[in-house]
Amino acid sequence: MQTDYFNLLAKFNHAYLHPGGLAATETLLSWVNWQASPKILEVACGVGRTSLMAAKRGAAAVIGIDESAGMIASAKENLKRQNIQNVNFTVLQAEANAQPDKDYDVVICEGATAFFSNRKKGISEIKRVLKPGGIFLTTEFYYKERPPEALIQKMSDLMGKKFEPYSLDDWLALYGETGFTIGEIISTPRNKPWSRFFREWRENMHFFLFSKWHPDRPKLNEYFSAFRENAKYLAACSYKLIRS
Ligand SMILES: C[S@@+](CC[C@H](N)C(=O)[O-])C[C@H]1O[C@@H](n2cnc3c(N)ncnc32)[C@H](O)[C@@H]1O
Repeated sequence: MQTDYFNLLAKFNHAYLHPGGLAATETLLSWVNWQASPKILEVACGVGRTSLMAAKRGAAAVIGIDESAGMIASAKENLKRQNIQNVNFTVLQAEANAQPDKDYDVVICEGATAFFSNRKKGISEIKRVLKPGGIFLTTEFYYKERPPEALIQKMSDLMGKKFEPYSLDDWLALYGETGFTIGEIISTPRNKPWSRFFREWRENMHFFLFSKWHPDRPKLNEYFSAFRENAKYLAACSYKLIRS
């Protein structure tokens, strides 16, 4: 389902709309073997900056998909401004069964599995399209405690999608259930002061951008301070085993 919310955000052409921002993207990309010229799928690529980074670092080919037509239009505009030939952006849902089996060396998905209408199906699709031995790189928020129901409802209303907060164990269990073996994990890097992380998150994150015009902005600020000690993020590299 396409949401107006992400199409609206696409107009701002804002990149790194995920937990950890650019620093988390750098962590994920550091886990890729660029010497092997990998073929990469970026799921929920937003305005496509990570796909463009991957192409510049030596990917043989990059496909970026997103269910938001607005995001893909902005990604295509960003691509046009660069002299890069081996990137394509397409409107496609993560859960759609529309890619060949075992075709990619790396799948990247930043700050988006939480928005899949069917998380298990979307992540299973990622596993299906990865080559055996391929890697799945992801960043997601997790919550030490389940946020108050009123906050969950508010976030869901704002995004036009059901927002279901996960703990670290929930995410790791889901990756395990979909057949991935967890390799590297970084959970809210310790060397980053929490206040700085939160400030950057507020600056980068769409909720604040959007909430500038939102009549409930003061209320949202109050809600977001409830996340301060509770929301952390995970950067993970999961493997599809050779025998799968
Ligand atoms: C928070 S944004 C992150 C965008 C980008 N990965 C980034 O880090 O800047 C979430 C993105 O997920 C996309 N999205 C949400 N559900 C999706 C789905 N089921 N299939 C494909 N894209 C989806 C939205 O359209 C949006 O672009």
